[in-house]
Amino acid sequence: MKDFSFKLKLIQELSKGEFCSGEQLGEHFGVSRAAIARHIKSIQELGIDIYSVKGKGYRLEQPLDLLNNQLLVEKLELPVEVIPIIDSTNQHMLGQKALQSGSVCVAEYQTQGRGRRGREWVSPFGSNIYYSMYWRLEAGLPAAMGISLVIGLALVDALEELGIQGLKLKWPNDVYFDNKKLAGILVELSGQAGDAANLVIGIGLNVSMPEHVQGIGQPWTSLKEIVGDLAISRNEIVIVMTKKLHDAISIYEHQGLTPFLEQWNQYDNFLEQPIKLIMGNREVFGTCKGIDQQGALLLDTGNQIESFVGGEISVRSAS
Ligand code: BTN
Repeated sequence: MKDFSFKLKLIQELSKGEFCSGEQLGEHFGVSRAAIARHIKSIQELGIDIYSVKGKGYRLEQPLDLLNNQLLVEKLELPVEVIPIIDSTNQHMLGQKALQSGSVCVAEYQTQGRGRRGREWVSPFGSNIYYSMYWRLEAGLPAAMGISLVIGLALVDALEELGIQGLKLKWPNDVYFDNKKLAGILVELSGQAGDAANLVIGIGLNVSMPEHVQGIGQPWTSLKEIVGDLAISRNEIVIVMTKKLHDAISIYEHQGLTPFLEQWNQYDNFLEQPIKLIMGNREVFGTCKGIDQQGALLLDTGNQIESFVGGEISVRSAS
């Protein structure tokens, strides 16, 4: 990976949101104004909005609320790694050995953030949350489907605790607000049948996605769009989210999906509504009937209630 250390220092310097002239910055870092201008350009390419005013210098469009590794470790008492720039937090964790369950990795920017069904997860610098948690699931691969739903619920629970209301879930675990996607979850796993499963739970949560960002390919929203003046820091969100995930996964490990079924129905964006399931070239229409004990999606196709399970299924409204 490219060396981003100088750009990170420059971002840090600008993060307070005040004007810094090219000359000041050049003197501070011992480089020319032209070098500063080049770095500013490549910082803009990371998705950070910086503008310049003649005679005043450079300024961030909005102050950056950077992740704080020390604070997160102190508050969570867990192994937490903040990596400013990484290919993918999920990929990073999948490549690690001997992790403790509950270990977390968060990034400011992902060069190859990935979503479900091989999609890209657009990850501009410092504006959203790109988060992965490792968990060793003793019950093994068969329990992994259910856990993915529990994670969506835990995320909604965390956001509600932070004051965000009106959230919904789209099976299996997308968080929605007003029919637009707020967060996505990608659970990746390794393990063999009969063994414990090693899960990497990846969460991408839109906090203050810059307006100019392109390539998302579906209607999206962000916490900032939902609440307007967002007073919650990303560190706070990571703390509450991690605690809720821990609690929910521990309950799931002891009691399975049963304690979560009612809550799922309460948040289901499509319950009792006409939907369409897309599975490759195949489409199935019916009425959404919630989920079963294993977390499979139930669909009333007119003749019978059919259950559907698998990471390649996509749900759409059919109304
Ligand atoms: C989806 O397609 O809805 C799932 C998106 C998951 C994105 C997150 S961001 C942090 C983690 N690292 C990745 O590369 N992907 C997940």
